[in-house]
Amino acid sequence: MRFDVLTLFPGMFRSYLDESILSRAQARGLIEVAFRNIRDYSTDKHHTVDDAPYGGGAGMVLMPDPVVAAIEAVERERPGGHVILLTPCGRLLRQERARELAMMPHLVLICGRYEGVDERVAGGYAREELSIGDYVLCGGELPALVVIEAVARLVPGVLGAEEAAAKDSFAGGLLEHPQYTRPREFRGTAVPDVLLGGDHARIARWRREQSLLRTARVRPDLLAQSNLTDEEVAFLGKQGYVVGPWKKG
Ligand code: ADE
Repeated sequence: MRFDVLTLFPGMFRSYLDESILSRAQARGLIEVAFRNIRDYSTDKHHTVDDAPYGGGAGMVLMPDPVVAAIEAVERERPGGHVILLTPCGRLLRQERARELAMMPHLVLICGRYEGVDERVAGGYAREELSIGDYVLCGGELPALVVIEAVARLVPGVLGAEEAAAKDSFAGGLLEHPQYTRPREFRGTAVPDVLLGGDHARIARWRREQSLLRTARVRPDLLAQSNLTDEEVAFLGKQGYVVGPWKKG
């Protein structure tokens, strides 16, 4: 899978990508990440890439010409990439979308900066606008890294055990159950007995319940979209969580 990143700060990426799982994935040829500096596509002698917003207001807006020229340069070399603009105004990136993106062979990620990117980029050249959360960062570089990692780890072979990804939080619509490792007791808190007994059915049931409780406590919005069984709804009800109209599994 190939990622082309269009950014004003290509130097921000390499150290992150050259460690751990993503580094191994690149070494094994499972993913490939290339960069283009948007400034290289500015045609004026000062290499200007931004200007004041029409209509007034604070800050600077990334001009469409260098951004679109960079997109077109990628398209000429490798046609057919799926072009994504990272912006807090985009649709929220969720695990489900990451899974869909992981099936695409080529993503082109545009990192905005300043107060935003001229709307004509989103309107005519980006196929999708993505946000990584309801907060504003200084630019799209961290969001692009987030997209690369969220997507790359779903590419077959990138994670050691394929199932590690499938069981993660959100894969089943719920947050993951708590995990424990040694020591058995840490500063007065013991690992739950059920995990030490070796009864795999009981462990699976306990984990599912923990998953339900954690999701109800922290992210009740996710419960609304998950398919709970009647038993699970009843279980949550007994624990004092109000069960809404989503309950049918
Ligand atoms: N650029 C600045 N903030 C962002 C966010 N939350 N998501 C995506 N791109 C951004």
